[in-house]
Amino acid sequence: MSRLVAVSNRLPLGDNPSGGLVVALEDALRSSGGLWVGFSGEQVDNPADDLTWHPGASFERASFDLSRRDYQDYYLGYSNSVLWPLCHGRADLVRIEPAHLEGYRRVNARIAELLVPHLKPDDRIWVQDYHLFGLAAELRRRGVEGPIGHFLHIPFPGPGDCAALPNPAELFDWLSHYDLLGFQAHRDLSNFTESARQLVEADQTEHCHFRLCGRTVRAGVFPIGIDAAAFMELARHAPDEDEMRFLTGAQMMIGVDRLDYSKGIPQRFRAFQLLLEKIPDLHEKIVFLQIAPPTREEVEAYRDIREETEHLAGRINGQFATINWTPIRFIHRPIPRNVLAGLYRQGRIGLVTPLADGMNLVAKEYVAAQDEDDPGVLILSRFAGAAETMDRALIINPHDPWELAGAMAQAMRMSREERRSRHADLLAGVVERDVGWWSRTYLDALAAGSGG
Ligand code: ADP
Ligand code: G6P
Repeated sequence: MSRLVAVSNRLPLGDNPSGGLVVALEDALRSSGGLWVGFSGEQVDNPADDLTWHPGASFERASFDLSRRDYQDYYLGYSNSVLWPLCHGRADLVRIEPAHLEGYRRVNARIAELLVPHLKPDDRIWVQDYHLFGLAAELRRRGVEGPIGHFLHIPFPGPGDCAALPNPAELFDWLSHYDLLGFQAHRDLSNFTESARQLVEADQTEHCHFRLCGRTVRAGVFPIGIDAAAFMELARHAPDEDEMRFLTGAQMMIGVDRLDYSKGIPQRFRAFQLLLEKIPDLHEKIVFLQIAPPTREEVEAYRDIREETEHLAGRINGQFATINWTPIRFIHRPIPRNVLAGLYRQGRIGLVTPLADGMNLVAKEYVAAQDEDDPGVLILSRFAGAAETMDRALIINPHDPWELAGAMAQAMRMSREERRSRHADLLAGVVERDVGWWSRTYLDALAAGSGG
């Protein structure tokens, strides 16, 4: 079997990674083995001109550093101030700087340069996410001929948003150098198809085959999953004693997200405020635990969302708190996964309300962590990729505080019988389409197109 080489911007070298890509890829590589190449997280004055190897995992890991300028232009700039907001329907937050696009091209080329000497002829290369759209073109330019696939963890923009890119045709040209493009949801595949048709020369030749910028590419939907069996086990044996003292008999509603503007955290705070205004009976009976580690704080939009959410939580607590009860507990730290699993399990409600999201693994983790005999209720935004398959959750529009507050009230009253029936269906899907299913299905499809 040929070696799998995964390449992503983020490479987890420390503990408690938060972010769907690293959580899923780590689970996938643990079982398949292979090499994972990514950014060390270190900004330095003079990055080395070779990869650094990190022993100690069940697969090989190699990292590269970034110069301060590359970090600024490629990571904070083009990746997280152009592509991320655009793919999440926030063209208003896009900040275009020619130097950032230049930096994005430069870093994609540099990663190819670092990678090529370490490649074997029959490697399968699997490029991850929006930071590295340009990598296949750079690898091909350096003579790499083997299969190269791409998987996009976040939504693909429709034609309106793509048109807001500084150079939309370049995105499709980059994509045309891959053998297989993987998307999280059908919504993304149809956005890709529609955007390509409107903005460049593109044609669907047969099912999932496209002529794009003069090359043939395949594209498909591969919804990402979690290591369900392992997470269920983790939740069953999670420490629960001291962590829960703050509940003092109340039910818990839990949200777990990076503190990102795409996650709809202010919207869920406002809906909770509405719930408490309209149903005073729930006072002291429900506590909302929101765990949200800050992320990408060098970008202004992320500093703004932190300020907005802290302000809102303070205001709502000020409005309703009593001596014995703080309605919102807002925690900014990363949490060890076993503690997280235990917290999900205690949650009567799991709140997943992004305004846009590739998949959202928290929805799947919450379901896997539940006690099957007395499970909680998942409230899920219709704009998460997960909503395409998890339709037994309470599916809501996160922009509508009345609908969201209504779902919270419904979940609090829901009979155990209904909770069990909804949860059993959700769990079956999470177990069937776990992370192993995701990587196998994708890699089989990549192999099928390259005769191997
Ligand atoms: P995204 O990839 O946009 O961050 P996902 O919901 O797909 O969103 O994935 C988030 C991942 O990060 C999940 O596996 C979740 O458990 C993990 N995570 C989020 N917040 C924390 C935290 N505070 N501590 C530990 N893990 C976290
Ligand atoms: C999302 C993206 C990943 C990214 C993660 C954390 O999951 O799809 O590519 O790694 O967020 O963000 P960060 O910028 O810290 O890597």
